[in-house]
Order: sequence, then C-alpha cells, then structure tokens
Amino acid sequence: MSESLKGLKRSHYCGLVGKTEVGKKVTLMGWVHRRRDHGGVIFLDLRDREGCLQIVFNPDQGSELFKKAETVRNEDVVAVVGVVARRPVGTVNPDLKTGEIEVLAEELRILSKAKTPPFYITDQIDVDENIRLRYRYLDLRRPLMQKNFKLRHQALQVIRQYFSKKGFLEIETPLLTKSTPEGARDYLVPSRLSAGKFFALPQSPQLFKQLLMAAGFDKYYQIARCFRDEDLRADRQPEFTQLDIEMSFVEQEDILELIEVMLKELFKECLGVELEIPLPRLSYQQAVADYGTDKPDLRFNLKLVEISEIVKETEFKVFKEVIKNGGQVKAINAKGCGNYSRKEIDDLTKLVKVYGAKGLAYFILTETGIKSPIKKFFTNEEGERIVKALDGQPGDLLLFVADKPSVVAAALGHLRLELGKCLGLINEELFNFLWVVDFPLLEYDEQEKRWTAVHHPFTSPHYEDLPLWATSPEKVRAQAYDLVLNGVEIGGGSIRIHQKEIQELMFKTLGLTTQEIREKFGFLLEAFEYGVPPHGGIALGIDRLIMLLAKRQTIRDVIAFPKTQSAADLMTEAPSEVFAAQLAELHLQIITDEE
Ligand code: AMO
Ligand code: AMP
Repeated sequence: MSESLKGLKRSHYCGLVGKTEVGKKVTLMGWVHRRRDHGGVIFLDLRDREGCLQIVFNPDQGSELFKKAETVRNEDVVAVVGVVARRPVGTVNPDLKTGEIEVLAEELRILSKAKTPPFYITDQIDVDENIRLRYRYLDLRRPLMQKNFKLRHQALQVIRQYFSKKGFLEIETPLLTKSTPEGARDYLVPSRLSAGKFFALPQSPQLFKQLLMAAGFDKYYQIARCFRDEDLRADRQPEFTQLDIEMSFVEQEDILELIEVMLKELFKECLGVELEIPLPRLSYQQAVADYGTDKPDLRFNLKLVEISEIVKETEFKVFKEVIKNGGQVKAINAKGCGNYSRKEIDDLTKLVKVYGAKGLAYFILTETGIKSPIKKFFTNEEGERIVKALDGQPGDLLLFVADKPSVVAAALGHLRLELGKCLGLINEELFNFLWVVDFPLLEYDEQEKRWTAVHHPFTSPHYEDLPLWATSPEKVRAQAYDLVLNGVEIGGGSIRIHQKEIQELMFKTLGLTTQEIREKFGFLLEAFEYGVPPHGGIALGIDRLIMLLAKRQTIRDVIAFPKTQSAADLMTEAPSEVFAAQLAELHLQIITDEE
C-alpha cells in the first residue's frame, strides 16, 4: 500500500517555504494535517516540524493524481512534488506563516498510512493528559510541543557554549552509583554480581563533582540526569535534568555572578529579553518573614505583616494563647476584598487549613469601621493599630492566622499566592529572578527528633558562625543560595565543606555514627586527606527553567517522555513486571501485599 521514497529528496521544510520560492519546484515531506475537498479542488495542509503549507490538487492536472489525493487521510505521511505559487487574491491566510503561498502538486507519494488518531493534532487541545501521554508521539507532533523542544535545544546550546567559553570541562559522572543524601528516596538498582547489594541512581552528581575538584579539574559542568523517588507535582519528575556546576578556589559571589551572566546571555539569545543583573537578593529569613516561603513570587507585592506585638494582650483567646505558647499572629491585606461573601471567606479558610492553620480570622474594613465576628474581643486601640500596620483602607479584607511560625508561614504564604492569582496581581509577562541567600545550615526535624541539613550535608557554614554550632546550631548560617524565578525554585547550590573535621562534625550533628560515616562517606573523607581545594557550585533545574522560558505550567510540556503523577510511563507501560529468571539472577524475590 505505501510507496517508496526512492529517487525523492526533500528540498524544503514545509514551514520554511516562502515567497522567494514562488515559481520554483519543491519536494516536501510530512504529515497530512488536514484534507479539504472544495468544489472539485483538494487542499492538503502538509505539516512538518517547521510548520504547515497548503498543497493544491486540481483535477485537470491528471485524474490519477487527483484520485490518489482523494484517498489521503489525516496524519498519513506523504511526499509531494510541486510548484510554489502565490495564493489567489482573497484566499490568503494571515494566520499562517506560509499563508500567502501554496504548492500546486505534480506528484504525490503516500509513504505511510495513518489510522484515525485518538485526538486531533492541534495546539487547542482539550484531551485528557493520560491519553496524550499514552500516545505521546502524537502529542509531540503538536506545533507548540515542537516549539518547546526547539527552545530546549537552543537553550542547551547557549549554555554549553557559555561554559565552554568560560573554561569549564563537560565531564560525565556515573549513573550506577552509591546513594548520596539529597533528601529524597533513591531509585535502587540490584546488583547481579554482588548478591543483596544495590546501586542507587544519582539524586544529583554532588559528591562526584566535588571529587572532580579534588582531582584538579578546577571548573566542571554537566547536563546531568538525576533521579528522585518523591511525590510528584507539576514541577517535579522522578527523573529530571540539572545543569550541574562546580568550581575550585571560589567564593559565593563568583558563582552567583557566573550564573547571572549565563542567564543574561540565555534570555537574550532565546527570547530577546534583556535581564538586568546583578539579580536582587533576599535573605532566607526575610523571605520567610515577608512572604512565608523561601521561594517567593515577587511579581506582586502583598507582604505578610506580623501583629503579635499588637495583640499579645488581647481578649481574643486564640491569638493570646498562641503568642503565649511561642507562636505568632500574622496577617495579610486582601486589598479591595471587603465585599467577599461568607462562602468566599470560607473557601480561603479551607485553603489555609490544608497547610495546618486552625482557622482564618478576618476584619472587613468599611467606611464606618471594622466588621468582624471577633471585633468584640479587640479594643478600639488594638483595632486601629492592626489596621494601620496593614495599611488598611475601607473596602479591604484583613486575614489573620495565629499558630507556630512554620504553620503561619505555610498558610499565609499559600494564601498570598492564591490572592495574587485571583486578584489578577501577577503580570505573566514578567521574569522575576531572585537569589535567596543565608539559609540556615541546620534545622531540627520534630518528627525524626534530629538535626537535618537544610541544603545538603556538604554545605559549608559561614565561618564566622562556627562558634554557634555547639550551643545553637539553628543559628549557624550556610554559605548556600537558591535561585528563584517567578516563585519556582530553579536552582540551588553552596560553597562546600572541604575540611575533614568540619565534614565529620556535620555528619555527627546529623546523627550518623562513626561506622555509618565510614561506610557511607569514607571515600569523601579520605579524599579530603589528600589536598582538596576550597570549592563550591550550583545546580539549575533545566526542566523548570525551560518550562518558565516557554511559559508553560508543567515541566511535562518540556520533557519528551515524562512520567505521570504515579511515576508511570503510560506509553511503554513502565514500570512493568519482569521474568522470574531475571529476578533470580538478581537474587530478588517479590513479596506481594496479600502474602
Ligand atoms: P537541589 O536538590 O536543590 O540541589 O536541586 C537543584 C535543582 O534541581 C531542580 N529539581 C527538580 N526538577 C524537577 N524535578 C525534580 N524532582 C527536581 N528536584 C530538584 C530544582 C532544584 O533547584 N547537588 C545539589 C546542587 C548543588 O549543591 O550544587 C542539588 O541537587 O530546580
Ligand atoms: P472560633 O473562636 O473557633 O469560633 O474562631 C473564631 C474565628 O477565628 C473564626 O473565623 C476562625 O476561623 C478564626 N480562628 C480560629 N483559630 C484561628 C487561628 N489559629 N488563627 C487564625 N484564625 C483562627
């Protein structure tokens, strides 16, 4: 049924044929986007990765050719030879790049027939994503998807050239490795040759890149695939790509500047956007205080305001008790939302409860004063001071959460984002970058009852904070930095510990025994005994960065074959069962839940 390509060579991509080709003979190959029969004339929209072009079949060009064109269906793969012509007056399509021209067909070969696809290949797609993922190769045919991957390619080229120009070496690190703790669960690979032992897929090349510094390579980068078995979201995949960087003999400033200049080149080359550098910075403490998160979206303002001081003696027990127990009360001014209905306020209350808040108290500000079910508990002076602190005007809605600081931050931080969205405060055109710096080195995990590293255990403290380690570890600041774009964490890094004693102190603080330290990190500590340069680096989430460059809402749109929420590939049906013999070779046995 299908014909051969023999003797035909493509002369142009459909989408790249222009007015300069008028009168020329072209050979095109691609997919039939649509066939329309119009009063004895057949039009094919032929599509390839560069765009669509209209092909015209006239019956007077030969009935055999015309009859063949009649058999063509959507998504058939065809080759067309024909002459480029200007479209007749009145038939120009201004929405199409090639809308002023068409090709008068002289030859048609049907190279591959297509079944009716499960969905129409269009950017205005409205099909369940699971179906799109099941037929990912069809979904990827959509022009928008093709555009996303061209952008990804272009960005990676700019990045590679940049680092090469700056003297970085691209070095690959292993995928079969020993697990390094980045905080997520590992993907494990059983070893056939060492019964009962496992490799881990890397959560990042962290320790290898540090060892490359010990090895004297000085400047390393890699477009590295990373694997983390964690709960998935719109911006999280179990396997994802990092732009991974490490440098010797540098301080924090050197790394931030290196990345800023790279971003400037990237945005200029890929989008024609001029970024202003240096990028703004905010301390971790300030970010959490003002926005309730270490990755604030600063495309809009709307700060959280602490009012604990004003209400610590109030009659309203909820507030007073919380403060007495070491908690805090913070508020946010939903400007102009004083007319919210009970239902709307209830919905906001539901939202904050998701993040652990016990309720959402509110003041509606009117011309005649505060309206609120809890107004009676506050003195006039308290009321006035609260309104003033939040710069309240008649018509505003003040929303309060009282709890321990982490809950207040999470609840109001998310409420802020929700208000930003529904009040239309976010300018989608903006690229708002921010460095968050001075993270704490350690934080106490109440559930596990132990200290954990906020970044990772290889992050160096600020040396001037070292004396605090013994008495108040939570006060030691890390030489760590995160890069945030439009409220998404797109990168993180740090200056590393390169002194054996400090690294050992870190492991011990995290609760590792001497034996565990030796088993897990012996190789690193040993390397530190053979002369290691001070070093530091960063990793950027390439998928997230491209998602934001492409103005997409999910990284699945910039990953060719992503996994679903439940970490499955619907197209290949991975993960899947394996033969008993394979398991036996790996010394494994499956225990199902029922057994
Ligand atoms: P970190 O764990 O912060 O640092 O990761 C760096 C960046 O990788 C991206 N990222 C992800 N993207 C998609 N899906 C995921 N599951 C996912 N997890 C992380 C984020 C993040 O900012 N070794 C250190 C870096 C260093 O210290 O140099 C590291 O991996 O954009
Ligand atoms: P209650 O006294 O429980 O009826 O609560 C009175 C108001 O305070 C309601 O609007 C609750 O949503 C709100 N509220 C209760 N607990 C908190 C809290 N921890 N923080 C903020 N508001 C709260």
